[in-house]
Amino acid sequence: MATQHSPLLAAENGDGQDPAVAGQAYFDQIIEDDSRVEPRDWMPDAYRKTLIRQISQHAHSEIIGMQPEGNWISRAPSLKRKAILMAKVQDEAGHGLYLYSAAETLGTPREVLNDQLLAGKARYSSIFNYPARSWADMGAIGWLVDGAAICNQVPLCRASYGPYARAMVRVCKEESFHQRQGFEILLELANGTPAQKQMAQEAINGMYAPALMMFGPPDSDSAHSSQSMAWNIKRFSNDELRQRFVGMIAEQVKVLGLTLPDDDIRFNKDTGKWEYGELDWQEFNEVLAGRGPCNAQRMERRREAHENGAWVREAAAAFAAKRAQKEQVA
Ligand code: 3HC
Repeated sequence: MATQHSPLLAAENGDGQDPAVAGQAYFDQIIEDDSRVEPRDWMPDAYRKTLIRQISQHAHSEIIGMQPEGNWISRAPSLKRKAILMAKVQDEAGHGLYLYSAAETLGTPREVLNDQLLAGKARYSSIFNYPARSWADMGAIGWLVDGAAICNQVPLCRASYGPYARAMVRVCKEESFHQRQGFEILLELANGTPAQKQMAQEAINGMYAPALMMFGPPDSDSAHSSQSMAWNIKRFSNDELRQRFVGMIAEQVKVLGLTLPDDDIRFNKDTGKWEYGELDWQEFNEVLAGRGPCNAQRMERRREAHENGAWVREAAAAFAAKRAQKEQVA
C-alpha cells in the first residue's frame, strides 16, 4: 500500500529538510517497498516524464487502434459479429480515455497530448500501421494483437504509478474478452471451408511478426527499459515478454489446427525460454519513422475524425458551462 503521509509536509512545516531531498528519499522508499506512487506524491521529473511518455503513447495506440477494426464494422459477416466488433472498438475508445485521464493526473492536459498526436509528434503502437485486409484479420488482430497487449499489460497492473496500474486492471479484463473473440473467429474459419481456413492462415502469417514487434525493440536497443524497470514501471524487459508471448501462441495455434510462420520456434529447456526466428527490425524502424504501410492513412483519418467531432466538443463544453452556472445559482 502507498504511504499515506507526505514527507514534504514535514519539510514545509519547518523541520529544516530540503523538500527535494525529503521528496527523493520518500520516493526511493516507495520504490524500494514496491509500493505505489500517487499523483500528489513527490516524484522525480524524469519519472513523471517517462510516465507521461509511456501512458500517452499507450492512449494514442488505443485511439488509433480503433481504425483497422472500425473499418470492418460495416462489413462484418453477421449481425452477431457486427455487435461484438462494435463493442470491442468502443472498449478501445474507453481504454484511451482511462489512459488520457491517468496521464492528466501527472499534470499534462489531454488537449496537449491530443495536439501532439495530431501534429504527428507522438508515437503510437507500430501494429496499427498495418492493414486489415480480410475478415480473418479481425480474428488475427483479436488473438495476436490483443493477446500481445495482454501479455505486455498484465505486468503493468503492478506498475508503481497508482492511476496507471489501476487503469490497466480494467483494460486487461476487457482485452481478455477481445482476445477470445479473435480466437473464436479464427477457430470458426479454421473449421470452415478450405478457402476460409486458408484465409485464417494468411491472416496469422501477416499479423505474427508485427504482433511480436509490439513488445518494442530488442533489449539491446531499448533506450528506456532499464530505468523503467528500476522504477517498477515495467516489470519485464521487451525480449522477456516477447518470448513469453511466443510460448503462449505456439501452444494455442495447435488448437486452431494452423501454424505460426516461423520454423525456428522452440522451447529451450536449458534457458527455460522460447526461441524464435529473427524479426525484421529494419521494417520496425521504418514503421516508427512514419513509413509503414498505413501510417499516413491512419493520421489522416484521425485528423478528419477530430475535425468532424468539433461540434460534439463544443456542445459538451456548452452543456458543462450551463450546468456549472445552474449549480452556482443553486
Ligand atoms: N510501436 C511504436 N513505438 C515503439 C514500439 C512499438 N511497438 N516499441 C517501442 N517503441 C518506441 C518507444 O516508444 C520508444 O520511443 P520514444 O523514446 O520516442 O518514446 C522507443 O521505441 C524505444 O523503445 P523502448 O523499449 O526503450 O521503450 P519503452 O521502454 O517505453 O517500451 C513498450 C516500449 C514496451 C511499448 C512500453 O512503452 C509499454 O509497455 N507501453 C505500454 C503498452 C502500450 O503502449 N501498448 C500499445 C499496444 S496497443 C494496445 O494496447 C491496444 C489494444 O487494443 C490492442
